[in-house]
Amino acid sequence: MHVGILTGGGDCPGLNAVIRAVTLALANEAGARVTGIERGFLGLLTRQARPLDANAVQGLLAQGGTVLGTHNRCDPFHYFGAQGADCSGDALAYVGHLGLDALVAIGGDGTMAIAQRFSALGLPVVGVPKTIDNDLWHTDRSFGFDSAVAVVAEALDRLETTARSHGRVMITETMGRYAGWIALEGGMAGAADVILLPELPVDVEAVAEHCRRRERTAGHTLICIAEGARLQDGALTVREVVADSPDPLRLGGVGQQLQQLLAARLTSEVRNTLLGHVQRGGSPTPFDRVLATRFGYHAAQLVRGGRFGRMVTLQGDAIASVPLDEVAGRTRNVPPDHALIDAARGIGVMLGT
Ligand code: F6P
Repeated sequence: MHVGILTGGGDCPGLNAVIRAVTLALANEAGARVTGIERGFLGLLTRQARPLDANAVQGLLAQGGTVLGTHNRCDPFHYFGAQGADCSGDALAYVGHLGLDALVAIGGDGTMAIAQRFSALGLPVVGVPKTIDNDLWHTDRSFGFDSAVAVVAEALDRLETTARSHGRVMITETMGRYAGWIALEGGMAGAADVILLPELPVDVEAVAEHCRRRERTAGHTLICIAEGARLQDGALTVREVVADSPDPLRLGGVGQQLQQLLAARLTSEVRNTLLGHVQRGGSPTPFDRVLATRFGYHAAQLVRGGRFGRMVTLQGDAIASVPLDEVAGRTRNVPPDHALIDAARGIGVMLGT
């Protein structure tokens, strides 16, 4: 058996741990050959690949990023390198040239959508969900999320001491795209006083009033805002548009907007910290190392069992899988009645109104 593996979309901590687990499980349990495709689906078009074995994946468990490289714009069905032409046939020709019996695609919703289209054309594909945003359907957790939450929590811990010293309002903007999972869990882990999410309305006047109350009592306020949160005009704050990307909008800047709006309403100084890609870098947490290893192992089992066109999931504490077409194109948002939202409200965290 000869299996290809690629990582697509934005990187995140734990990708290397999956590559390692898939390679070791297939080599140990099936004597399979494994080939790494470089830079996501782009490598299938540029014909860049290299062999992976136990030696090649040694030391990868704790390493951030992806040793295979990745690409967040390459969709072979709409290839930016050929004026948007459908080059999926070229990709399949390279799969044939390599003699791959299966392909493991590790990525977010864009990667799963492409994997699904290849699967529909008959390519034996297994998907593994990655994203720090934790917004993929049918999986309670994607690896990378826990590592991102740890970064947010540490940042809030650090910002709290300087906020307290100066009596300031400190805003921290997190990633997460259209979902508020990172801000919610990171904010709770870092004891934010205000948490603002895309899923809940934000009334800037009410946030300012909350800060004023804290000016009089605690003296300082920690605000954790998701990049997808919408302020009074209800619009998303777009940082840039990446043409040809399966998801062209890049969000960012809402923390700075909030800083301006609050500064005009408060006597305290207001500062903003944009955490940005720091949340995606570095070594995965132990939780993510274990989850990524369980995902990789399960992907290898699906390949060995010939169960293609499926994505690995975590449901409760059980690793399972669902058909790829049930995942593609859907975002898993924070439900407004989520237990952690109730807990936040219950302990007095302000959630926007
Ligand atoms: O989907 C992961 C993510 O990190 C989002 O949280 C963020 O909005 C986006 O990717 C950033 O993308 P890029 O790396 O292209 O700026």
